Amino acid sequence: MLFITSNEGKFIEAKKIGERYGINIEWKRMEYLEPQGNDLIEIARKSAELLAEKIKEPFFIEDSGLFIEALNGFPGPYSSFVFKTIGNEGIIKLMKGIKNRKAYFIAVIAYFDGKNVHTFIGRVDGEISEKIRGTKGFGYDPVFLYGDKTFAEMGDEKNEVSHRRKALERFFEWYASL
Ligand code: IMP
Repeated sequence: MLFITSNEGKFIEAKKIGERYGINIEWKRMEYLEPQGNDLIEIARKSAELLAEKIKEPFFIEDSGLFIEALNGFPGPYSSFVFKTIGNEGIIKLMKGIKNRKAYFIAVIAYFDGKNVHTFIGRVDGEISEKIRGTKGFGYDPVFLYGDKTFAEMGDEKNEVSHRRKALERFFEWYASL
């Protein structure tokens, strides 16, 4: 099963989750065009459709985002740009003094079966921490609190509960039922 992503952190997690389902995930490290938009599902679907014009064999991609309740869902579909520009320090600053710290991650998998694109979604709820904590994982992991630990403090435990785990689980269960 080919996973196209330029993000090594995503690949490592997906690989470990796949192993639990007996599915071998291979990495095709590649950047691809991601159309902008407000809807992660549409972005993932369109990205997969564009890629399918070049890659003829089955593959999947994954698009994810962090949604902060007090910021009306920001950064959401713009999570990648926001991470590159203001990063975790910027998120902590934006959230300074804000009591409602609820946030969630969404992951959307788009699988191209050689003909059609199928999408699968996963969500995990948590909170934005008061400060950056932990060194494992990637991206927003050091500011995303799940219970009393950030994802960056959890290491592989993250893979039990993450948005990516849930989306992959849905995908693999569907795949196994074909
Ligand atoms: P994209 O899906 O590659 O566009 O990712 C959007 C942004 O969210 C990137 O900056 C990722 O680093 C970040 N991100 C995606 N998944 C996770 C995660 O599991 N933990 C922390 N950050 C994530």
